[in-house]
Amino acid sequence: MKKVFMLLMAMVMVVMMAGCGGGEKKAAQAPKVLKVGTEPTFAPFEFQKEGSKEFDGFDMDLIRAIGKQLNMKVEILNMGFDALIPAINAGNIDLAIAGMSITPDRQKAVDMSDPYYVSGLVVVVGKDNAAVKSVNDLGNKGIAVQIGTTGAERASKVPGAKVKNFNTNAEVFLELKNKGVDAVIIDKPVAEYFLATGGGKDFAKIVGDTMEAESYGISLKKNSPLTKEINKALLDLKKNGEYDKLYAKWFGAVKK
Ligand code: ARG
Repeated sequence: MKKVFMLLMAMVMVVMMAGCGGGEKKAAQAPKVLKVGTEPTFAPFEFQKEGSKEFDGFDMDLIRAIGKQLNMKVEILNMGFDALIPAINAGNIDLAIAGMSITPDRQKAVDMSDPYYVSGLVVVVGKDNAAVKSVNDLGNKGIAVQIGTTGAERASKVPGAKVKNFNTNAEVFLELKNKGVDAVIIDKPVAEYFLATGGGKDFAKIVGDTMEAESYGISLKKNSPLTKEINKALLDLKKNGEYDKLYAKWFGAVKK
């Protein structure tokens, strides 16, 4: 009887230990949190639907898909666009995805991933504005931009322009609507989306050619080991069709 009992106990212990082992493994694989910063007034890349705190848009879908690839839990934080790079460098976020154009200056401050979207800047003016046909007509005029953006940089090069910087693009477009400025300089896909979906079509139009070819990248701390992993995940999503699916969802056609 005692022997049978000992044997049973031994079996129970083996089963328990096996269970423990599995448990340990699971604990080790529990998804780490990926702290992501963005500035969500940039539809269709990042935005919050009216009355919602949920983050929506192409960038948000993309970073969630990347998180899945890396087995990390994505946590998104809302901050000012010009606060994103400082937040990376302070270690408050692991990365920023915010339709951020890859520029030499930014590449000095942070790591930037491989490009994930090709973009450019355009000029937006009031619908009834016949005088401004391109950026060359903006000399000495008022231009609204989002602070810290490549649009702000471009505006600052227009001779004599009175550049007004705003924290959000909602304010930028509102300033144009209220005729506080003559024009806005902003990313083309954002201007197009605004005109196609927002109240923008009532008062605004795009003029001139696309300026400054730019590509968006994800930014991370300089020499972060994560940069490689992000690039690998991006490549995997391009290979497995997930990237194309997201692109089609937000931009209609699939771009190769
Ligand atoms: N592409 C421009 C830049 O890099 C504007 C980005 C603005 N993004 C945003 N989420 N508000 O400067």
